Amino acid sequence: MRQSPLVVVANRLPIDDSVAPDGACEWRRSPGGLVSALHPLLRHTPATWVGWAGGTGPAPHLPDVDGVRMHTVPLSADDFRDHYEGFANATLWPLYHDAVEQPEYHRRWWDAYQRVNQRFAEAAAEVAEPDGLVWVQDYHLQLVPGLLRRLRPDLRIGFFLHVPFPPPELFMQLPRRAELLRGMLGADVIGFQRAQAAHNFAQLVAKVLELPATDRQVTVDDRVVRVGAFPVSIDAAEMAALAARPEVADRARRLRQDLGEPEKVILSVDRMDYTKGIEQRLKAYRELLASGDVKVRDTVLIQVAVPSRQRVAQYQILRDRVEHQVGRINGEFGRVGEPAIHYFTQPFDRAELTALYRVADVMAVTPLRDGMNLVAKEYVAARVDDAGALLLSEFAGAAAELEQAYLVNPHDLEGLKRELLAALRATPEDVTTRMRAMREQVRRHDIHAWARSYLTVLDTGGALRDRLV
Ligand code: UDP
Ligand code: G6P
Repeated sequence: MRQSPLVVVANRLPIDDSVAPDGACEWRRSPGGLVSALHPLLRHTPATWVGWAGGTGPAPHLPDVDGVRMHTVPLSADDFRDHYEGFANATLWPLYHDAVEQPEYHRRWWDAYQRVNQRFAEAAAEVAEPDGLVWVQDYHLQLVPGLLRRLRPDLRIGFFLHVPFPPPELFMQLPRRAELLRGMLGADVIGFQRAQAAHNFAQLVAKVLELPATDRQVTVDDRVVRVGAFPVSIDAAEMAALAARPEVADRARRLRQDLGEPEKVILSVDRMDYTKGIEQRLKAYRELLASGDVKVRDTVLIQVAVPSRQRVAQYQILRDRVEHQVGRINGEFGRVGEPAIHYFTQPFDRAELTALYRVADVMAVTPLRDGMNLVAKEYVAARVDDAGALLLSEFAGAAAELEQAYLVNPHDLEGLKRELLAALRATPEDVTTRMRAMREQVRRHDIHAWARSYLTVLDTGGALRDRLV
């Protein structure tokens, strides 16, 4: 087994198996913010990515992707149901997102979570070179840092949480809260998206484990664990270059023609997830159509909602409700050849998505809670023309950085309607001033800056710093 100086451990590999129209198995980039963030970063780095390739059954052998070695961890049907769909996505995911859906607690799910985390830790221990760096990602794998430290005390271990870390009153609901905190503390550096999350973590560690903890560090077993906020980002230069390509600009122009040359195009791009505020946004849009503030004749809404975690009950319910809403709105307000909402569940590739960003006069990103939301940053980076208005939820991590967006509380329907109208009616000068400031922010705080700031803390020996960023 070849060993790597840097090992990334994430539940998902950057490529996923999917079934081609002819029934053959093919590989495509996995959807979601974690892969979008890490994929460009690791390209051409001597690294191994330990993760799951989607599906159940034996681990497929995958080729290297852009020079990064893929090390697959298999999930059985039981692991998939109890670890991925269960503890990760029906306990932790809703709990960490303000419990906007009720988290469920089952002892069998916890057993699977431990079992799968152990398997990921063993895989990482196998492929990390002596004194190497292992960077564990996200809520599916919170026990891995502790388990890995036991297997390989020589390693430097980082942990980064892409989703919010909840306030103590929510986290305290977890029956196995102490084990989860102890698992994370196996890391040398624990990174969160926002300072508030680091603060929540410190409070919980002090309360549940009775350890000395501040928002910047925790002392455990005579080790100092560094804690901090490292807001994740995108490859802004790559997105800007893609957006500036003539074929993408052409595609944007053709899209506008295909839409019937409307005055305004509003775009939303989400995983079909109850944290994304899709229902609230559609409700606000329906009211604007009903009141006549927005007219189908001159305004078009494009909603991309890519199905996600499709066997989990709340996700099925959400999809049914969203599709019912879209059908109802189109039935009530659409005209022949002019639907009120252009609705897509098919995933779009990077180029097509970027063309959509370029066509959108208003990008509506209104999650009820989101760790960061990279779609918002991608939109900003794609607006090389300094045009386009961003409507952004206060509860997305991105709101802390994109202060010039039209910020909204997505629970407040009147506020949503008001700010959407403000974004639609903004003067070109105002739009440009805001977009310029946001583009500069995303350009300066891109994914490479994120990696640099995290690795400066983790990679104290400096073994990787120069090679990675
Ligand atoms: N995305 C994509 N194709 C689609 C829809 C989304 O490639 O059709 C990507 C999008 O560009 C972004 C990621 O999926 O990079 C979503 O990340 P975000 O942080 O916004 O949300 P998450 O899905 O991680 O909750
Ligand atoms: C979020 C999570 C990621 C996850 C992604 C897609 O971004 O933070 O860890 O990979 O959603 O979700 P999925 O369940 O398809 O991996």
